[in-house]
Amino acid sequence: MSTATPQSNIESMLIENRVFPPTAATVKAARISGMGTYNAMCAAAEKDFEGFWAQLAHDNLSWKKPFTEVLDESNAPFYKWFADGELNASYNCLDRHLGTPTENKKAIIFEADDGQVTNVTYKQLHAKVSQFASALKAMGIKKGDRVIIYMPMTVEGVVAMQACARIGATHSVVFGGFSAKSLQERIQDAGAVAVITANYQLRGGKELPLKAVVDEGIALGGCESIRNVIVYQRTATACNMVAGRDSLMHEVTAKAAATCEPEFVGAEHPLFILYTSGSTGKPKGVQHSTGGYLLWAKLTMDWTFDLQKSDVFWCTADIGWVTGHTYVAYGPLAAGATQVIFEGVPTYPNAGRFWQMIEKHKVTIFYTAPTAIRSLIKAAEGDEKVHPARSDLSSLRILGSVGEPINPEAWMWYYKNVGGERCPIVDTFWQTETGGHMITPLPGATPLVPGSCTLPLPGIMAAIVDETGKDLPNGAGGMLVVKRPWPAMIRTIWNDPERFKKSYFPEEMGGNIYLAGDGAVRNADNGYFRITGRIDDVLNVSGHRMGTMEIESALVAHSALVAEAAVVGRPDDLTGEAIVAFVVLKRSRPTGDEAKAIAKELRDWVGKQIGPIAKPKDIRFGDNLPKTRSGKIMRRLLRGIAKGEAITQDTSTLENPAILDQLSENL
Ligand code: WT7
Repeated sequence: MSTATPQSNIESMLIENRVFPPTAATVKAARISGMGTYNAMCAAAEKDFEGFWAQLAHDNLSWKKPFTEVLDESNAPFYKWFADGELNASYNCLDRHLGTPTENKKAIIFEADDGQVTNVTYKQLHAKVSQFASALKAMGIKKGDRVIIYMPMTVEGVVAMQACARIGATHSVVFGGFSAKSLQERIQDAGAVAVITANYQLRGGKELPLKAVVDEGIALGGCESIRNVIVYQRTATACNMVAGRDSLMHEVTAKAAATCEPEFVGAEHPLFILYTSGSTGKPKGVQHSTGGYLLWAKLTMDWTFDLQKSDVFWCTADIGWVTGHTYVAYGPLAAGATQVIFEGVPTYPNAGRFWQMIEKHKVTIFYTAPTAIRSLIKAAEGDEKVHPARSDLSSLRILGSVGEPINPEAWMWYYKNVGGERCPIVDTFWQTETGGHMITPLPGATPLVPGSCTLPLPGIMAAIVDETGKDLPNGAGGMLVVKRPWPAMIRTIWNDPERFKKSYFPEEMGGNIYLAGDGAVRNADNGYFRITGRIDDVLNVSGHRMGTMEIESALVAHSALVAEAAVVGRPDDLTGEAIVAFVVLKRSRPTGDEAKAIAKELRDWVGKQIGPIAKPKDIRFGDNLPKTRSGKIMRRLLRGIAKGEAITQDTSTLENPAILDQLSENL
């Protein structure tokens, strides 16, 4: 088992006994008011599982054709929800608000990298999405086609996603930090017909190419399915345009019909595919549905964030990750919220940017990642000018955390310095595969414990079991599972249903309970969940998911230099985990400056193969890797070495124990 949090944090979590109950006023005003209400909702889901979900789906979504079936388990684990119902996601996010007071409400407050602000109302966003959807249709893009979106954080990024949803095209957003090669692999796997991109993206005062990366990716070959590349002109700098294939977003939009009837689709129609890392092989295309997914996006906005009409919601995640899908592109709009979308980075022009923006836009709900918090703590401690105390944060009422375990120290700092000891922190545990929040406090109900994601949402049957699927008692660590399906769950892995079954519904556990891939433990007294980290070979670096095998493959792909590589995670105070690579070269083991130069070359190589986020922090060279007699790499040993621990394991089976000293050597 690998642990995703620094050991010191785990220890401090084990002794964590501070409890922060919601104030009476918060409880009174909340949508889910008090633990009594929460418990009653959980009981309702237990008592009549399908009835519980049916009522919610009926009340929270607008259906073109109402569903009569709720859950179809006949082909488990390929569960279907509301399968005979028909709806459109974009209709539910936009059209539904027209003719209501929400139509003139701000849907998006966009703040550009340079601080310029643009407001877009629901009515305006509806018009933008409709016209761009018409343009896509005019190009021949239709229901069921796959469209890659490789865009910066902009209004247009959301417009692109919503426009695909409007015409029933399945989008696959690729994070702007991924390489040409990663993009090519996703285009191929999805069999995409079009790419929507931007000429450049602006981040931290820098102009970074996107279209050039798309061209490079397509040029790598095997992307013949792509017929159109549509370019949003974010900056004045020109980019290469391929005649007959490429067009400018504003030009095709201007020529298109202003209205576009939404394409109503079956509830199970794939709204999107989002690639994420697994423990083996290439990234998996997690396929999500329309009806079940959207229901959960909308409901968790209401439940977890206790969304009220006057709220200004800000989720800092990029649309390239699932958080940016559910809590930027879909959830806030389905819920009729006003949200902030930010193009830039938290440290530009200074590390007080988030706090200044909260003040400027009077943000009431702020949702970010522990990594961001930890780096801003560091910045604030070093420079009083970027401390949250310098900004008026009194508009805030709820804080959220997502993506990795939050260590109690960071939690306390966030609680005190950002939330003024008055805002509940919702530590939301979920995954790309779960579509939305799974285990999280409710701001008007759950007493908070720093470092714990507390309790599952009503209807989510989370449990901790052993390898055979047997329930473990509270206090005993085990594997986190979900025993019953839920509407927003992953439907399959695109192109690979067998991998879907094997990865998430292992036979050893009966084949129908969802295995999250995380270790967890429940508190002996209150049953609160605490996530202890991944149990597979997946790393969490700054809240970004990376497969160790993926990085190993990238290293080995440098066939001129690398003979063999093993990658492990090491706890890191700032990024949660850091990537450490152990490499055997085809030539003799380098030392000194030469080793440093080769390490740099390999790091850049991995950046090129996958993206900068996959670059190993640390590279160690050895004449060999430690292996068992059967030839298996002793990863546990490598994890110890990466952490700088003294080796206590039995190493008598090693062919060449001297390599342990080599691999322990820091460059
Ligand atoms: C993995 C999923 C959730 C959307 C963003 C990441 C870890 C996520 C928490 C949390 C502890 C967390 C888990 C999970 N994780 N949230 N609140 N506490 N760990 O989605 O890239 O699919 O990663 O992130 O290890 O399995 P993802």
